[in-house]
Amino acid sequence: MNKTEKKAAQDSPRDSLFSPQYSSEPSSQSFMSTDIREKVTALRNAIAAHDYRYYVLDAPIIADAEYDALYRELQQLEAQHPELIAPDSPTRRVGGRPLPEFPAVRHTVPMLSIRTETDTEASGARAFDARVRRELGLTDSDPPVAYLAELKFDGLAVSLRYENGVLVQGATRGDGETGENVTQNIRTLRAIPLRLNTDNDQPPAVIEIRGEVYMRRDDFEKLNDRQRASGEKTFANPRNSAAGSLRQLDPAITAKRPLSFFAYGLGEVTGWKLPATHGDMLDAIERFGLPVDKHRRRALGADALIAFHQNIAESRDSLPFDIDGVVYKVDSLALQQQLGFATREPRWAVAHKYPAQEQFTTVQHIDVQVGRTGRLTPVAKLAPVFVGGVTVTNATLHNEDEVKRKDVRIGDTVIVRRAGDVIPEVVAVVSERRPEDARVFEMPRQCPVCGSAVTREEGEVDAYCSGELYCPAQRKQALLHFAGRRAMDIEGLGDKIVEQLVDKALVQSAADLYRLTQNDLASLDRMAEKSAANLCAALEKSKHTTLERFIFALGIRHVGEATARDLARHFGSLDALMTANSDALIAVPEIGGVMADSILSFFSEPRNRDVIAALRAVGICWQDVVAAATSPGPLTDLTFVLTGALPTMSRDEATRRIVEAGGKVTGSVSKKTNYVLVGEAPGSTLAKAQALKIPILDEAALLRMIEKTASTKVTSQSAP
Ligand code: IVH
Repeated sequence: MNKTEKKAAQDSPRDSLFSPQYSSEPSSQSFMSTDIREKVTALRNAIAAHDYRYYVLDAPIIADAEYDALYRELQQLEAQHPELIAPDSPTRRVGGRPLPEFPAVRHTVPMLSIRTETDTEASGARAFDARVRRELGLTDSDPPVAYLAELKFDGLAVSLRYENGVLVQGATRGDGETGENVTQNIRTLRAIPLRLNTDNDQPPAVIEIRGEVYMRRDDFEKLNDRQRASGEKTFANPRNSAAGSLRQLDPAITAKRPLSFFAYGLGEVTGWKLPATHGDMLDAIERFGLPVDKHRRRALGADALIAFHQNIAESRDSLPFDIDGVVYKVDSLALQQQLGFATREPRWAVAHKYPAQEQFTTVQHIDVQVGRTGRLTPVAKLAPVFVGGVTVTNATLHNEDEVKRKDVRIGDTVIVRRAGDVIPEVVAVVSERRPEDARVFEMPRQCPVCGSAVTREEGEVDAYCSGELYCPAQRKQALLHFAGRRAMDIEGLGDKIVEQLVDKALVQSAADLYRLTQNDLASLDRMAEKSAANLCAALEKSKHTTLERFIFALGIRHVGEATARDLARHFGSLDALMTANSDALIAVPEIGGVMADSILSFFSEPRNRDVIAALRAVGICWQDVVAAATSPGPLTDLTFVLTGALPTMSRDEATRRIVEAGGKVTGSVSKKTNYVLVGEAPGSTLAKAQALKIPILDEAALLRMIEKTASTKVTSQSAP
């Protein structure tokens, strides 16, 4: 048994279903009918157990094909022996016909809502704890109250009714008193057992398990991709998607939707002894075979609640599903009873929300921004809205096709989303709220900044301003990129200053930056004498750089930091790079045709060559690591990829040794890789190298290769 299996076995209340192991023998008419009955039962149990491992424990132990074989065999037996068909058979998950409407269900125990604490995390939890203590008559000298802290799942509440262990009804919350009977649809959720696992104990006569039907984010994305591919409507977010999927009148549609479920409480219960605490109750529900979220924690007193809230806030974006907050519940069921209810909310529970990651707002305008490479990006100008913890006024619409796909019009009400540090995005349009005078966006034919023609290549999504460095917007962005921390690192040259330098025509190209006097700089708005002096010093300092930074700073389309490094290491000097032809460029590992074209066209443009000459003239210089092309070493023309931790050298050190010996180091394995240098705990690189049959080296073997001819040469070059 491997680790996952062992864990699954320990966690698995439905383990008994695996013993005796079901053995797959061909079915035959010659079986005694009791044999067939037993076989059908064994198949059902095995399938239920595999569903449980797959959908609840997330730890399957058989391949999909084996599962399908079991399923088909059961289907066949049931077809041959219809008298054996039972409602809790896994083949009956999708059974019924489409309904004209959902029948109403009256909840015998109402489905309540929870009071929402709107205060900050600390005062919210303290206020709740203080209320609970006051209502229980506790004083400061009494011990802290025990709570159970859970996640607040963002889906829709349902109640699952099991009678004598069999799922008989699934209902939505509705108004809390009356919901909709969605039993047929609920039965299609394979995370929800059709029969409770009670081992050999008597199941409860009635138990209503309550919880949230939701959709995982990855399932939601995949579903939307599928919907889009088949030209059907897409969903704005996982919650809408879950609600829309569960409330389908045709259960066959719901069955195709990837819905999940977490249990968080109980409704009516008869014939079952309630545990002492909410936590124990959730554990019992888990043992019945239903999914209960693992993040739940017992928390003693308000401080522990606050810690839970903070902890979850940090991991919120990396959860596989959406939550909109956390829920605190008094753990003891006896104390819950003592606290009772205030109108429609229990006094023993409170929801503490996180800032919403989605809000409604309106699109006041759609602007077009011009980037460094001239790319035009439509940006929605929004009525200010507080979302994801900040006020958002802009949201990118990416490109023309995206605007069309989402059909965003000026005047529309839209849902904006901002999760974590991600750039705010327009998720969807609320088409019901579209005003009559909403205007369709059109990509301008002329650059909104410089008036040059806008071009969009066949088959490309992006449109570009053809003005290049004539376009002030592109010039500004190009200068900012040039000055960036990872490029020439000119401290203090921010967007406000670049803006003025370009608008006042003090700077046309990067080389002009180095011709600015302290007086020029001091004449700018918001530029004190001292800052002007600092900026002058920063410019001077930036003149000493590295070849890779300089190449990156040039802002060649498609040449990022890593490519700039590859180019610097491969060609060793700027002249070698500037004179390289297409073949020479493509010979660099990691450089493909598109990049090579872009590099060639950059260096063939006279304006760019002039700027480079001017930059050299003002004294930009760098130290080349090695003139790889001119000084052959033992590793010349060999390309290496590193993976794992080496016994004596750091990665940087190993890279340096390889480069000094004339070799190259690239980030990922391709057919052009000659060797993979492997240390301890290698990544997936090793498997890929083995698949491509690339020779593997360890550190000692590398050192032997280098030392064979120890002729490393480091040349220093300035003012190329
Ligand atoms: S307990 C009596 N626990 O939040 C308390 N509700 O206003 C009943 N929700 O629509 C609810 N996660 O669907 C509870 N861990 C959780 C929850 C949760 C999400 C939803 C629930 C209901 C709303 C409560």
